[in-house]
Amino acid sequence: MDEKAQIEQLRNELHKHNYQYYVLNQPQISDLEFDRKMRLLQDLEQAHPEWYDPNSPTQRVGSDLNHEFRQVVHKRPMLSLANTYSKEEVGEFYRRVEEGLQGQPFRICCEMKFDGLSISLHYEHGRLVRAVTRGDGTQGDDVTDNVRTIRSIPLILPEGLDYPEEFEIRGEILMPWESFEALNREREAAEEALFANPRNAASGTLKSKNSAVVAQRKLDAYLYYLLDDNNPGESHYENLQKAGRWGFKTGSQVRLADTLQQVFDYIDYWDVERRNLPVATDGIVLKVDSLAQQRSLGMTAKSPRWAIAYKFMAEKQTTVLREVSFQVGRTGAITPVANMDPVQLSGTVVRRATLNNEDFIRNLDLHIGDHVFVEKGGEIIPKIVDVDVEARDGNLGPRVEFITRCPECGTPLVRYEGEAAHYCPNEISCPPQLKGRIEHFISRKAMNIDSLGPETIAEYYRRGIVRDIADLYEIRRDQISGAHGQKDKSASKILQGIQESTNVPFERVLYALGIRFVGEIAAKSLARNFKSMERLSQASLEELLQVNGIGATIAQSVLAWFRNPQNQWLVERLRSYGLQMELSEEELSGHTERLAGQSVVISGVFSRHSRDEYKALIEKHGGRNIGSISAKTGFVLAGENMGPAKLEKARKLGIRIVTEDEFLGMIE
Ligand code: IVH
Repeated sequence: MDEKAQIEQLRNELHKHNYQYYVLNQPQISDLEFDRKMRLLQDLEQAHPEWYDPNSPTQRVGSDLNHEFRQVVHKRPMLSLANTYSKEEVGEFYRRVEEGLQGQPFRICCEMKFDGLSISLHYEHGRLVRAVTRGDGTQGDDVTDNVRTIRSIPLILPEGLDYPEEFEIRGEILMPWESFEALNREREAAEEALFANPRNAASGTLKSKNSAVVAQRKLDAYLYYLLDDNNPGESHYENLQKAGRWGFKTGSQVRLADTLQQVFDYIDYWDVERRNLPVATDGIVLKVDSLAQQRSLGMTAKSPRWAIAYKFMAEKQTTVLREVSFQVGRTGAITPVANMDPVQLSGTVVRRATLNNEDFIRNLDLHIGDHVFVEKGGEIIPKIVDVDVEARDGNLGPRVEFITRCPECGTPLVRYEGEAAHYCPNEISCPPQLKGRIEHFISRKAMNIDSLGPETIAEYYRRGIVRDIADLYEIRRDQISGAHGQKDKSASKILQGIQESTNVPFERVLYALGIRFVGEIAAKSLARNFKSMERLSQASLEELLQVNGIGATIAQSVLAWFRNPQNQWLVERLRSYGLQMELSEEELSGHTERLAGQSVVISGVFSRHSRDEYKALIEKHGGRNIGSISAKTGFVLAGENMGPAKLEKARKLGIRIVTEDEFLGMIE
């Protein structure tokens, strides 16, 4: 089989296994086998950039290239639904439909209301060509590159099925609870702001300018609305069934109801059962099933008359507040935590809830022994939303006061101008801050020293072996191996892990330092701009502010960090142990052989880079820029308005025309 056919076959197979795994949840091959095929395809594609396809399964990992989103006008506006909050209102909707249809029999399609963000997907000839967010309902952002990374969205539909040549399907993009919780755990460890709920996390992720970030965050998608002028079916339910057969995830909860009672039964069932779903839902959507009846009922200005949303009540419980404790984080931020009598909430037992900050506690006039209302809406961390003042009796305990000194090191706390949080300013010797900084330093996205974990760090800290991150590189074998030698193996592993971390690239070293507000992305931009620790440490505020994505908060924080002599000394010690303090040669040059041996003709007008930049990019990746098309031309990089003569010539010679986006995908 020639390599082109092999690429085709691997792509088909991987699309199929992807569907089996992410849509049907029934993998047919092992992960190992899947990865093997994927690597094989990657290798083949790398050897043949001329067969690049943005819809190849390999493209699901996204790209690091930043770009702005193009605005796209929706062919038909993306409407929202009228909300109801009680069965009475649902009954009223049902009667309005009865009236509107003048006694014709009708059925209601009952579905979950997924709590994410709506998306419109366009397919042409079975291939995903565009994905657009709702935006203002009239126009949204083109987020196709990001959406391609979502594994449950088919990029290419199987051949020979009855989908229209062109169609649009709408649905909801979600971050499953599991991914959301993992993401927040990571962010908490890195002291980055937590996402309040999976919807915010999904929305923040989908609007990321870096599709590689989206690929890592594991989004999911449920489709609920097929739009097409030549709709294949005459009922909404049928359309969803069809979409399911074409490879879309439509949710197995969809049911048809013949009576209002059946609608109520559906609501009652899912009000409880939704807690076992892998994604967040905030209600039920009810739609008149027949498309003809939908058309006859029509729309109001804002929403269809044939559909309605029934919203679930946020779950709220009361319990008794027993104690308030205060936690100190890596940056010294103090979090007040309520410890309460255990209470059942959204399927889990809750004992602790955040109290946010001093103002929050003061506004509630909170006392120990108070009956408090605890809520867990979309949020993962339960919160106290109110105090039941009427339940107070003679046994009310003392008023909850915010502490004035750090519970760990006794240092008086500070509250910075304009900030709600209190901080322990003792960066030098407050134990949780020191331990937290080391934990951050070794974490996966930082130095990735996975032979060490929080317990070991705590132990080394207690024994006085490490007090700061540079101490890690001074650990001696005799300090950490057991008296009887059994632990020698793990000691070797730990020392090896630490030693290997000296190869971790500069941008991650920078992130690992734990400079406040410098997350992964900021660290990357700073590293790429200043290229070395030396230059970064000498950067002025103005220079820092010029970097893409660096605002005043980050810039001030970086400046203050490098000004501190303790930190300067820390950097010097890390340097002496061989950590990467500048971008590597490769990163500096960004040179690859992706286009080796290819002659490329540039034609037309470009929006992402200038013509000269494209010239440079071609050369940087081993290709050659040539002026005119001949049989030897590898491909034409074409922008808007490519000259008709060139186009004709390329067509005649069968030379591939590559768009800007495709080209950027090729060299990524
Ligand atoms: S149908 C014209 N079905 O809820 C009807 N919407 O306020 C279009 N949503 O913007 C929407 N689950 O983002 C529909 N099963 C479902 C849904 C659903 C969630 C969202 C959607 C829409 C909003 C309506």
